[in-house]
Amino acid sequence: MPEKRNSASDLFTISFGMAVSDPSSAGMSGAAEWTDVAPFEEILRAGSLRLSEGASRGEEGLGWKTLPWKNIDPVEETARWLSEFGSIVQIGIGGSALGNQMLHGALLPPYWNELPRSKRDAPRFFLSDNVDPRDNHGVWNLIEAEKTAFVVISKSGSTAETMANFLFFWDRLKVELGPKRAAERVVVITDEKQGALRPFAEEIGCRSLVLPSDVGGRFSVLSPVGLLSASALGISAPKLLQGAAELEEKLSSRTTLQTNPAWLLAALSVVHYRKGRNMTVMMPYEDALDRFSEWYAQLWGESLGKNGSGSTPVKALGAIDQHSQIQLYTDGPDDKLFTVISTSDGEEDIIIPETEEKSLMGLSYLFGQSMNSLRRYEALSTMAALAKTGKPVISLKLPEIDPRRLGALIQFYENVTALTGYILDVNPFDQPGVEQGKNYTYGLMGRPNYSSQALEVTELAEELSLQQITL
Ligand code: PA5
Repeated sequence: MPEKRNSASDLFTISFGMAVSDPSSAGMSGAAEWTDVAPFEEILRAGSLRLSEGASRGEEGLGWKTLPWKNIDPVEETARWLSEFGSIVQIGIGGSALGNQMLHGALLPPYWNELPRSKRDAPRFFLSDNVDPRDNHGVWNLIEAEKTAFVVISKSGSTAETMANFLFFWDRLKVELGPKRAAERVVVITDEKQGALRPFAEEIGCRSLVLPSDVGGRFSVLSPVGLLSASALGISAPKLLQGAAELEEKLSSRTTLQTNPAWLLAALSVVHYRKGRNMTVMMPYEDALDRFSEWYAQLWGESLGKNGSGSTPVKALGAIDQHSQIQLYTDGPDDKLFTVISTSDGEEDIIIPETEEKSLMGLSYLFGQSMNSLRRYEALSTMAALAKTGKPVISLKLPEIDPRRLGALIQFYENVTALTGYILDVNPFDQPGVEQGKNYTYGLMGRPNYSSQALEVTELAEELSLQQITL
């Protein structure tokens, strides 16, 4: 089992199935050899230096490395103001939304919006990301304009989805409260210079925060983008940053593949990818981390899917996917690298109750057992089943899901993603494919100077529908 290389860790422990000259590891064809990863050590050393030196020079895309040490007083001050409202509606998409959902899902009690205010002691939270009139109407019908704050986030300040959704709420808000009181309920998070949102914030005189220009959307969760709503809902922003800073400090002192888990994971990801394992499955075993996989999927997919390379991130959730995907994972093609995330038993547990009905005596093996331990065994069983059929598994164990450890985990995967990009020789910080989609949309919607994009997308759409069948 990959558990063999465990070593105690305060933040989290990550175990890799490395082949050892130990007969008990026989049959673990998913295990990689040290000789497979060793050739990457120099590129990883250079890559780590490139990240830290580039970040201190303010190089584009690398600002996430320095976020743990940024002054967050303006964020906390705005969060205090925000926390007084009954509801927050956040408008943003991709990197301007997924990190928020991840933080809230992991660190707030479940069914947050349904809890009475006395149990929440903070606003309800709604997200408008997709362009879906039903959703936007649904949110508007659930809130009271008077008691709601609107957080609009766009790094570029121009994304069509975000702008369209915001224009809907802004219009409703002005009609309901008038322009002055409407502006008193808006906060903008955007780049210091580019896009329409910065001048808009100045024009209407609303609150605003700066998304540093050297931080890309999917790397921005530990900037005002993620910290503002988290902090307003009672999640400790300083603790998130503390965990991220600790992680950075630990990684910077580990300069070998054997001791630096970010290096080893980046190298292993490439080794498995080049062996044909072109999917990477992220499978936490806690509902709280469900959104973590979604955040990770964007980070990994958008950073590495370039020039024909990049493995496809797949979001899974234990134990639910044991009853959906595990058949494929264990017995299907050997084209995936698995990460299973489990946590030590939390404070909250259920001792499975005994019952006296004769018909249920077959379940007596469950009576009196902890529900947390059932989940822990489920995770172990999945890893064992995967290992048995030769599938590579990485096991990540969190002692607890708290802000400090989540901050560390975020920073860890950002480092792994960036380093994997360097090994694959792609720029992990741009997103030409996303920009292309945005430009086609601008063209189709008649934005000035995008008519050639409209022409191109129309021609391509015609090719796509050369053979049409209607039923
Ligand atoms: O990571 C990225 O750059 C993208 O996914 C963006 O976050 C997304 O496209 C939204 O862009 P913006 O924040 O500029 O509205």
